[in-house]
Amino acid sequence: MRFENARNYDEFAQAQNWAAKSLVSLIETFRGEFGLVYEIGCGSGLLTKVLLERLEIEHLSLNDLYESQIMNGFHSQIGDICQIEMPKGLDLVVSSSVFQWIDPLEVLAFRIKQALKKGGICAFAMLSKGSLNELSSYTKQGLNYLAPEQIEHIFSKYFDVLAMRTSSYTSQFNSLKELLVSLKETGVNNIKGSFVLNKTSLAGLEAHFNGAYELSYNYTFLVAQKG
Ligand SMILES: C[S@@+](CC[C@H](N)C(=O)[O-])C[C@H]1O[C@@H](n2cnc3c(N)ncnc32)[C@H](O)[C@@H]1O
Repeated sequence: MRFENARNYDEFAQAQNWAAKSLVSLIETFRGEFGLVYEIGCGSGLLTKVLLERLEIEHLSLNDLYESQIMNGFHSQIGDICQIEMPKGLDLVVSSSVFQWIDPLEVLAFRIKQALKKGGICAFAMLSKGSLNELSSYTKQGLNYLAPEQIEHIFSKYFDVLAMRTSSYTSQFNSLKELLVSLKETGVNNIKGSFVLNKTSLAGLEAHFNGAYELSYNYTFLVAQKG
């Protein structure tokens, strides 16, 4: 994913914005104050800003594959979360709209457990099965999104799962072009592999959407505690 190219991310990322806010609301039902917090895949800082607004955080560390402006002023670790060494003794590891890219997710779940202190919380929102089906049912391309039960199963091996929720956000567009621009600007671009956008495939996509330009973002939210 070339997220560093998603310049207008904040403007187009309605689903991701909704997911970040929903995630923090869920975290708040368990705890509102944290010591050391580590965010995985902060991107332009959509979730970061909600965390800072709504939770009491003593120290926040940010991670992403790429450097971004929000990282200025915070401790940050740039690199692949599957490769870098996270700090230890964390109270909260949090992430939104990132874990669908992580494969295998189980390895990361284990690494997060090692980084958390006893009683620490891992909380995330990720795209799950059925996301962007409107598009992938035609292109036959896209990420192999995990089912909510698979996600819960992975984390229940290492954590006590405190909450697992699923919820869907539907983005509506006025045209196919608007829909495709939104995907590109949020870096979610599911069009890859052998599917090529050209005059013929665009006409095929137009017929497929048949005037209903919608995309479903099926999110799984999970809050888990290290026992
Ligand atoms: C869709 S954006 C979400 C950004 C932000 N969390 C939000 O809620 O808007 C996904 C982010 O995950 C980052 N990312 C993807 N894979 C990653 C990895 N293996 N390690 C660290 N960051 C990763 C991308 O660079 C991108 O910034």
